[in-house]
Amino acid sequence: MNPPAIAIDGPAASGKSTVAKLIAKELGFTFINTGAMYRAVTWYVLQQGIDPSDTQAVISALAGIPLSFGKNGSVSTVMCNGKVLGDELTLQSTNDNVSTIAAIPEVRALLVEKQREYNTAEPVVMEGRDIGTVVFPNTPYKYFVTASEEVRAARRAAQGLTDSIAERDRKDSARACAPLTMAADAQLVDTSDMTIEQVVAKIAADIRSRMA
Ligand code: DC
Repeated sequence: MNPPAIAIDGPAASGKSTVAKLIAKELGFTFINTGAMYRAVTWYVLQQGIDPSDTQAVISALAGIPLSFGKNGSVSTVMCNGKVLGDELTLQSTNDNVSTIAAIPEVRALLVEKQREYNTAEPVVMEGRDIGTVVFPNTPYKYFVTASEEVRAARRAAQGLTDSIAERDRKDSARACAPLTMAADAQLVDTSDMTIEQVVAKIAADIRSRMA
């Protein structure tokens, strides 16, 4: 049996990344940002001059992809030829194309395998879109973190980012393979009127009470 896995899913800019990172810290678990993995593939594909909508070309590129997935302390990292990726992952071009790349089943199969590997040896808090539905469907710890579209847009703007989150959510929810959807057994956490601290406290208390 694998160590515990906490699944935190939700739409873009719902605060799930910040929340997941803090919960991981509080529990002493490894934090895994799966969006960064889809972003890394997107960045690499664009770097290679491949059109993201040319699905066959993207699939062909996957075989020799020089990306690796590791950790820095207790936080996941993505590397290209051994160099940790950072700003590359939030370039406008990466934002604009990540939903197209993430809709390709072959890309998802590759990354889901890597995501599960993280949990074979250690407990994880993993955030994304399909963690509770696809990556760890059997975990009892599933949270769907969301907020109103206005609140999410304001949060992105406050970060100085101009990502078109509504468009990305539409694409992520409409795709055939592993769409953004709440698992039937997940707990819904609407953070519109909550502080980060309140959200972390609520989820951490729930996990602790059920682990006891
Ligand atoms: O969490 P994020 O905004 O960095 O994710 C970037 C994109 O990656 C998101 O628009 C959809 C995709 N994604 C996904 O399809 N499945 C995941 N588990 C995580 C992200």
